Amino acid sequence: MEFTELGSTGLKISRLSLGAWQFSEAWGMKDYGLAKSIVAKALEVGINFIDTAMIYGRGMSEDFLGRALQELGVKRDEVVIATKIPGEFLSPEDVPRAIERSLARLRTESIDLLLIHWPPAWHNFPTCTYMRALERAVNVGAVNYLGLSDYPVELAEAARACLAREDLVALQVRFNLAERWAEAEHIPYAEANGLTLMAWSPLGKGALTGKYSLEEAGRLQDVRMNEALFHPKNYSQVLELVNVIREIGNKYGKTPAQVALNWLISYSDVIVPIVGARSPSQVEENVGAVGWRLSFEDWRSLDEASKRLKITYVTW
Ligand SMILES: NC(=O)c1ccc[n+]([C@@H]2O[C@H](COP(=O)([O-])OP(=O)(O)OC[C@H]3O[C@@H](n4cnc5c(N)ncnc54)[C@H](OP(=O)(O)O)[C@@H]3O)[C@@H](O)[C@H]2O)c1
Repeated sequence: MEFTELGSTGLKISRLSLGAWQFSEAWGMKDYGLAKSIVAKALEVGINFIDTAMIYGRGMSEDFLGRALQELGVKRDEVVIATKIPGEFLSPEDVPRAIERSLARLRTESIDLLLIHWPPAWHNFPTCTYMRALERAVNVGAVNYLGLSDYPVELAEAARACLAREDLVALQVRFNLAERWAEAEHIPYAEANGLTLMAWSPLGKGALTGKYSLEEAGRLQDVRMNEALFHPKNYSQVLELVNVIREIGNKYGKTPAQVALNWLISYSDVIVPIVGARSPSQVEENVGAVGWRLSFEDWRSLDEASKRLKITYVTW
C-alpha cells in the first residue's frame, strides 16, 4: 500500500480509500457478514481510510462499519474514518444530534473526518451558522477534522472563511476517467490549499471495469438504473474508452479497474480515490492499482481517449 497525508494534518492515510456506500439497499447489499468480510480484506491489504455517510442505508453503512471494526478488534488509531452529514441536518440544533447518532453507530468517541455531504439546498441554513456548529463539534472532541463534499469551490471558500480556528482538510467530489469536471476548479484548489481530494465513483460505479456489455448495463437493478453513465448513449462511449484502458492494462498485466484507478492516482498526489467494493476479491483487485505508475505516454493516451467522451446527463 502507498500512504499519504490527510490534508496537512500529519495523519497517515492509505492512497486508496474503501467506500462503504455499498453497505446499503442502494446497491442491494444488506448482508452484514459480507460487509464485514469486505472491511476485513481492506484492512488486510493495507487500506486504513474508510468513507461512509449518515445517509448510506439511513445509518446502516455506519452501523455495519462500526460493528465490523469492533468485532475485528481494530484499534481506534489503526483506522481513519470519514463520514458525512447531509445538508438537511445542518441546523445548529441538529448538528450535535446527528453527530451523536453517528458516533453511536460507528461505536467510537470521535469521528476522524466529518464532511458535509452536500450544501443545504432546501433549508437556507446560513453558511456560517452551520460551519460554526461543526467547529464546536471539533472543539468538544466529537470530530477531529472537517471537510466538504460536492461543494462548488466558491461556496467551499465562503464556508472556510466562517471557521475561526479550524480549517478544511479535504474536499470530496466525483472524479473518474469518464467524468472529469473536478479538474477545472476542485483539483487546483485542493492542490493550492493542501487539501486531500477524495475522488468518488473512481470506477464510474463499475462502468470503467468493462465487465458489463451494453445489454447487461441496461439490466442492472440497483442505483445504476438511474445513473447517466449507464445510459446507452453514454455507456457505448464508455465501452470504447474501456477498450483503450484494457489494451494499456495488458502491457502492465493490470486489469481495467487497476488502470483506471492508477490514472487518478497519477493525476495528482492530493487525489485519494474512494473505491466501493461488493466483495473481498474486488478489494484485493483494486489494491493492485497502487505501487506502480503508468508511463507518461500511456497516461496521455488515456487522457486523450477519455477526452473524446461526451457524457450527457439529459437522459430522458
Ligand atoms: N460524496 C458523495 O456524494 C459520494 C457519491 C457517491 C459515492 N461516494 C463514495 O465513493 C465510494 C465509491 O463510489 P461509487 O460506489 O459510486 O463507485 P465506484 O467506486 O466507482 O464503483 C464501485 C462499484 O464498482 C464495482 N467494482 C468495484 N471494484 C471492482 C473490480 N475490481 N472489478 C469489477 N467491478 C468492480 C462494484 O459494483 P458491481 O460489482 O456491482 O459491478 C462496486 O460496487 C462510495 O462507496 C462512497 O463511499 C460519495
